[in-house]
Amino acid sequence: MPSYLRAGSLPAKRHIQFRRPNGGLYAEELLSTQGFESVYSLLYHLRPPTATLDVRPWSRPSPDFSPNEPLRNRHFLTQRIETSGDAISARAAVLGNADVTIAVAEFTEPMAYFYRNVRGDELLFVHRGSGYLQTPLGRLDYRAHDYLVIPVGTTYAVYPSEKTRMLVYETSGPVQVPRRYRNEFGQLAEHAPYYERDFRGPVLQEPIDELGAFEIRVSGKERNAIYTVAHHPCDVVGWDGYCYPYAFNLEEFAPITGKLHQPPPAHATFEAPGAAFCAFVPRLFDYHPLAIPVPYNHSSVDCDEVLYYVSGNFMSRRGVEESSITLHTAGAPHGPQPGAVEQSLGKKSTDEIAVMIDTFSPLHIARAASEVEDQDYYRSWLEPTAT
Ligand SMILES: [Fe+2]
Repeated sequence: MPSYLRAGSLPAKRHIQFRRPNGGLYAEELLSTQGFESVYSLLYHLRPPTATLDVRPWSRPSPDFSPNEPLRNRHFLTQRIETSGDAISARAAVLGNADVTIAVAEFTEPMAYFYRNVRGDELLFVHRGSGYLQTPLGRLDYRAHDYLVIPVGTTYAVYPSEKTRMLVYETSGPVQVPRRYRNEFGQLAEHAPYYERDFRGPVLQEPIDELGAFEIRVSGKERNAIYTVAHHPCDVVGWDGYCYPYAFNLEEFAPITGKLHQPPPAHATFEAPGAAFCAFVPRLFDYHPLAIPVPYNHSSVDCDEVLYYVSGNFMSRRGVEESSITLHTAGAPHGPQPGAVEQSLGKKSTDEIAVMIDTFSPLHIARAASEVEDQDYYRSWLEPTAT
């Protein structure tokens, strides 16, 4: 959705006859969002995508969430959550609420089926690994530090070429570029930390002309099903529009820095209903001669902040490691741990990479996260006891 794309063969106008070389008609499909009111794409299939052989239940397990009770700041060592299988079956929920589910997934297996989330857009952050997504709109290659935005209703399969670790956000609506990054025509503004050229769309492949029985697992939170369809889903000869999966790598993110500390909204990447996403990437620190590079203590009194630590030296956090997730909750202040402010003085730059989501409704904690919680994290702001 950053901008209009077109690929492959298209008729001169939408909704008119578009014939195959043998004279038969291609099957047009409109992928539309928010009814007919928001972004959409038009796809041209070799055969109708409606040909369904079978529908049966899919008993996809629901996350086992508990409230953040007692309400406190928390730290989860998610590298210790064992996941296996493919990109979907490996998802282990960590935190969630009605707006978003946050999961981790580490996998090596290619998907033996297609998957379609019909509840909201998915935002996948690739921590490690590479591979590609196969979709009817084309192939989308991924590599470490990619964000992958997958619109609601996109049919896709993930094929890792090496062991892949992802942070997965299943949202309840569109994942969008913040409005303030766009001008009145939707173009990314000059002050935005990225540009249209930084986004990678899918590359349309030759249509797969196969009849048979192809499985698509459809998920809409509590509504799940396994469809068997009669044609390969990736039989598209052309498509155009604004609704398509795309990738954005953090290498392309141009962080906004300042004379004094820039708050997280300066590092915003995307937003979704009830959630805002940010990325902290290698950057120069503030240039005031007396600047304090690490953040000040603060209380986000009406949102929960979740940081996922990707790589680098996490200067302001004691005890975190790669793949750690901290939950800094509404109701409790947080800030640098003892000594971190002094240690940071005079530092000119950071090599840390971390991604963040703020949620505006309280997050609940999944059982898998509770099992890897650093139970003493909320005490980590105490001065170390002298020995
Ligand atoms: Fe914070």
